[in-house]
Amino acid sequence: MRGGVLALILTALTACSSKDAPSGAPLDAGDAGADAPDPCKPGASITPYVRSGGAETTFPAGFRFGAASAGMQIEKGLVHADWYQWANVAGKVARGDKPDDGPDAFAHLEDDVAALVAAGAKAYRFSIEWSRIYPTRESFDKNEPDAAGLAAYHKLLKALRDAGIHPMVTIHHFATPDWLDDITKPKEPQGFERDEMAPLFGEWAKRMGKEFGAEVDDWITINEPLVLMVGAYLAGAHPPGPPLDIDRMFNAAKKLVKAHVAGYRALHESDTVDAGSGHAAWVSIAKHNRVFKPYDACEETDLTAAKKTDYLWNEWLYNALVFGDWDDDADGKYDGPNDKKADPALKGTVDFLGLNYYGVSTVSGALKLKYIGGLPAYDALPTDLPKTDMNWDIYPQGFRDVLRQLKKYSLPIYITENGVGDAKDANKSRYLAEHLWEIGRAIADDGIDVRGYYYWSLTDNFEWDRGFCPRFGLFRIDYASPARTRTPTKASALFKQIADSNKLTAATIDALPAYSSPTLCPGAR
Ligand code: FCB
Repeated sequence: MRGGVLALILTALTACSSKDAPSGAPLDAGDAGADAPDPCKPGASITPYVRSGGAETTFPAGFRFGAASAGMQIEKGLVHADWYQWANVAGKVARGDKPDDGPDAFAHLEDDVAALVAAGAKAYRFSIEWSRIYPTRESFDKNEPDAAGLAAYHKLLKALRDAGIHPMVTIHHFATPDWLDDITKPKEPQGFERDEMAPLFGEWAKRMGKEFGAEVDDWITINEPLVLMVGAYLAGAHPPGPPLDIDRMFNAAKKLVKAHVAGYRALHESDTVDAGSGHAAWVSIAKHNRVFKPYDACEETDLTAAKKTDYLWNEWLYNALVFGDWDDDADGKYDGPNDKKADPALKGTVDFLGLNYYGVSTVSGALKLKYIGGLPAYDALPTDLPKTDMNWDIYPQGFRDVLRQLKKYSLPIYITENGVGDAKDANKSRYLAEHLWEIGRAIADDGIDVRGYYYWSLTDNFEWDRGFCPRFGLFRIDYASPARTRTPTKASALFKQIADSNKLTAATIDALPAYSSPTLCPGAR
């Protein structure tokens, strides 16, 4: 096996094991008695949610309740983005949905700001789209930004400021200009696998810091770097797609790290203005972390696979960006020829930790590598947990696990995403409340410095390869109406109640309906 982050995951997941791979059949009760659960029963390490103790959870003063979005998922007319081209290729997006048929955020800017206000949000995370500002290579090289694009983002920032809403800006949220990621030429280096990506991304970041630094303090360079890498170069769920190859992916991931570092330094160089937070640029990534459980907690290969996946997915990158510890061969040790400890080129290149949390994965040493939702190393093991419309397990207790794991980095944490696809608006309130509850307990009981929570998403939107089916919004979009009306969900009222009072009671959660079955979306894995 050649080296590489996911090569190691692959090694772990294809390791020999005496037992059969899970069949995908529902779990049966096994031989264990009802009151003596069998710890070796497949899936036994994933237990139902039991709320942490206490009658109420209060959030620290100034805790930032907000909502999140991304340009490609809500804007119309991003015709020079790789995702725009990708969505035009048959079979890439469920039902052939197209981003242009989405919420059309620029035309509804006032509606979205009004929605934030109505939900009691004090913060909004959104992206500035590289392909809107620089639609062509020539426009970038000559530094001739699209004036209408710049004006649109300034208009949004002003409207947010007038409404007292704090911005957090992502400068790369999955979509890349098509002049850097050309899906018609997948055999040539594309996207982050290009050698020029780090300097170009640094330049892009520098210009954004200069242009918007007086209005923005909080920056995300790259959203979910590892999801992007796996999705683009290994799973084929994101552009540029095939040839899918683990070395290709790892090569791109290393260049992505360089691009982030260039972006981090450039934003600090160009944004020296405090826009109101008490500091100028504060820069990080939005990192998708999750809980990895062994399929069979009594099987050594499953335990090892879960541990390795956890390290690679949850720690490998932040170890590099916070401590400067670069594990080039991704073996969990820092003794390889290209490994480095406390490398000053990497160390301290995040000012806070961005955390996107969506749940739990089961890992088996006997399984071949699988991709679900663009993520590696977990299988479709049926569990008894309630599910989202994406068929993801709902696992609020995992929030505390991932937060505790981040504690060693000693940096403030923002929850940059967390949310649920729920077309019926039947489960969203409970999901929101249970997840916020566990964050509150992590702050109070585990001493974890969480400063804010951005619900994904403000409105329903274009959910990448799943199209418009998953409805994550605090506000429902009526896609059939040209007015694209934003209608509040029940969860938006609960969100406001929690944000306004800065607290959540156990009684509030108990009064919410129990989870009901999801409306599964096409392609839900
Ligand atoms: C995350 C993405 C975000 C959205 C949610 C559901 O992985 O960052 O754009 O699609 O999942």
